[in-house]
Order: sequence, then C-alpha cells, then structure tokens
Amino acid sequence: MRNRWVKGAVAAALALSFAGGVVVVAQAQGDVIKARQDNRKEITRLGGREMRPLLEADGNLAELATRAERIAELNKQFATMFPPGSDKGNTLASPAIWTDRAGFDAANKASVDAALKMAELAKAGNRAALADQYKVMGSTCGACHQKYTTSDPFKK
Ligand code: HEC
Repeated sequence: MRNRWVKGAVAAALALSFAGGVVVVAQAQGDVIKARQDNRKEITRLGGREMRPLLEADGNLAELATRAERIAELNKQFATMFPPGSDKGNTLASPAIWTDRAGFDAANKASVDAALKMAELAKAGNRAALADQYKVMGSTCGACHQKYTTSDPFKK
C-alpha cells in the first residue's frame, strides 16, 4: 500500500518534468486516493473487528498492543497522503485539509497519541483503563471526519 503510494509519488514527479504530463498526474492522484482509502480500511479492520475481542477479560494484551501500534503507524502514514490536488476525484477528503493543514495534523496527532496510549495500557496490563481508552481512540476518528471529510466515511 505504501509502496503503491511511493510509486504514485514518483510517477507524479516524473510526469511534472514532462510537458503534457497532466494525465499521468491525475492517474497518480487516483493512486494516492486509493492508497489512503486502503489505509483507512486497514485501520477500521484492526480497530474494530480485530480489536474488540481482545478487550474482553481474557483478551491477549500483547496482540492488542501490536494492533494499537499499527493503528498509530497507519495514522502517521495517512497524514503524508494528501498531495495538493488530491481533493479531486473519488474522495471524501474535504478541501479544509489543505486550507487548515495545522488543524488536520492536530486531529491526526490526537488519533496517533490515543492509539499509542492504548498500546501503553495494554503493555502495562491495565485492562480496567483499556475500555475507556478504546472509546477515546474511537472519538478521535469521528472528530477528524466531522471537520475534514465531505460526508461521514462510516456511512460510505
Ligand atoms: C486526521 C483525520 C482523520 C482521522 C484521525 C481518521 N480519519 Fe478516517 N478519514 C479521514 C479522511 C480525510 C478520509 C477520506 C479519505 C478519502 O476518501 O480520500 C477518511 C476516510 C475514512 C474511511 C472511508 C475509507 C474508504 O473506503 O473510502 C473509513 C472507514 C475511516 N476513515 C475510518 C477511520 C477510523 C476507524 C479512524 C480512527 C481509528 C479514522 N478513520 C481516523 C480522516 C481521518
């Protein structure tokens, strides 16, 4: 997924060095949009179906920590996947991402931090605090979507 994005970015850079590369640039933007949507699909799978059972009383906390760390990593990658112009096309990304980049980065950081906190609590074996932190992490998804997507991605 990341490789595909890197390839897209390279293609865009090459295209820019040639006159008439506009079509190729559009293609590369399609790739970056697809890559960031794939990133979100993975984060949803990890944070939902795969994480919930681990929060049960007998859930494997080491696995939970691994998944939470991966969620943080995916969020960090996600923030790098918004080159100028990629608000056009088959995307829910709001133009606000480009006009209020600092706010977008702060919303992303809140999500990264919430996931890392989740990993920390799992490693410490603090089951009592995990359920609450799971809610905090979930709320960071919705908080960003509210400001930086054109419609609710969870209803897509
Ligand atoms: C910093 C902002 C931000 C955070 C935090 C965030 N998202 Fe998103 N999310 C977006 C944006 C922007 C899109 C639209 C991407 C696009 O269509 O190009 C999106 C799209 C999605 C989609 C739709 C993907 C698709 O198939 O098109 C899902 C599902 C999703 N997010 C889940 C989550 C979950 C789960 C979390 C929390 C663990 C989360 N997001 C956290 C900004 C965020």
